[in-house]
Amino acid sequence: DHSALGYSVGVTLDRFIKIKQDDFPFASGELSQILRDIALASKIVNREINRAGLSNIGGAFGSTNIQGEEQQKLDVVANIRFTRALTKGGEVCAIVSEEDDEVIDLQNSSGKYVVAMDPLDGSSNIDVNISIGTIFSIYRRVTPVGSPIQPEDIMQEGNKQVAAGYVLYGSSTMLVYTTGKGVNGFTYENSLGEFFLSHPNIQAPKDGNIYSINEGLTSQMQNGVKNYVESCKKRNFSARYIGSLVADFHRNLLKGGIYIYPKTNKAPDGKLRLLYEANSLAFIAEQAGAKATNGEERILNIQPTALHQRTPLYIGSGQMVDDVYQFMKEEI
Ligand code: AHG
Ligand code: MN
Ligand code: MN
Ligand code: MN
Repeated sequence: DHSALGYSVGVTLDRFIKIKQDDFPFASGELSQILRDIALASKIVNREINRAGLSNIGGAFGSTNIQGEEQQKLDVVANIRFTRALTKGGEVCAIVSEEDDEVIDLQNSSGKYVVAMDPLDGSSNIDVNISIGTIFSIYRRVTPVGSPIQPEDIMQEGNKQVAAGYVLYGSSTMLVYTTGKGVNGFTYENSLGEFFLSHPNIQAPKDGNIYSINEGLTSQMQNGVKNYVESCKKRNFSARYIGSLVADFHRNLLKGGIYIYPKTNKAPDGKLRLLYEANSLAFIAEQAGAKATNGEERILNIQPTALHQRTPLYIGSGQMVDDVYQFMKEEI
C-alpha cells in the first residue's frame, strides 16, 4: 500500500500528476500540462497503432528522413499527433523530433519548455505487430520566454532535463516517466481511456542476466564489446533483442539487464540519437538506480553539438554497465 507516499496503485495519471505537482519547484502546473498533452497524444497514437493493419496507415510513407531511414506512415502520423497535442497544450515553445530535420518552432511566445521526441521508436516492427514506443525529454528554455529560440535552448545536456518518459505500445500500453523524483509506470485501460498507476517507484535490479545487442553486427564491433558478449554466453545469460529500444529497455529495467548499441563500422558514433533516445532513457535509468553511458562517460553529461547526433549506448543494470566498461578498458 503506497498510501504512505500519498498515492495508491490504481490512481489515474491525472490524479497522480496533481498529487505530485506540489513536489517540483515550478509547481505552476505547466509541466503537468505537458505530461497530460503527451498522454493524450499517446492514446490517439495507441488507437492508430492497434488499427494499423485494418486501415491504410501501415507501410512506408514514401519519403526518407534526415536519419536516412525510409519513414513509415505511422512515424509521420505519430509525429503529427504529438506535435499537434503539444502545440495545442500551449506550454511548449520548440520541439526536436527524429522525423523533422530542423527544430519545430511553435511560435509560442509564452512557452517555457522544449520537448525532444522520438515519436515512434522501433519503426521496423510496425508492420509485423511487434511492440513499438514513443520516447520524450522535456527541458526548460534557457533564453527569455518570448524571445527567439536559440541553439542553447535546444542543445542542452541531458542533466538539464526536467522530465523524461516513454510510451510502450506492447501487450498493454504503458506510460513510464520521471520528473527527477523517481520513476512511475502507468498502464492504459482502453475501455475507460485512462492511464492507471500500475508500477509505482520503479527500481531496476542492480545486476541482471539478460543482454540486448544486435549480434548480427558483431563483426563490426570493438573487441571489448565482443569479449563482454562472450562472457555473457559463458554465464548462460539470456539474449533478448526486440529491435525496439523502448521494449528492450523496459524489460531490462523491470527484470535487470543491459541494452548495448555500440559503435560499429557502419555507425561509427553508434545508431541511437542522443537528444531523444539516449538522454530520455538515461534520465529514467538513473532515476531507477540503473546506469547509462556511451562506453566512456555518463550519457547525461554529453554536451550536444548537433540536433540528430548519435551516440553509442550502454544502458541498464549498473553492475552490467560497469562490467562491459571493464572489458572495454582492457582493450585500450
Ligand atoms: P527508430 O525506429 O526510432 O528509428 O529506432 C530504432 C532503433 C531502436 O529502437 C532499436 O533498438 C534499434 O534501432 C534497432 O537497430 P538495428 O536494427 O540496427 O539493430
Ligand atoms: Mn527512425
Ligand atoms: Mn528510436
Ligand atoms: Mn523513431
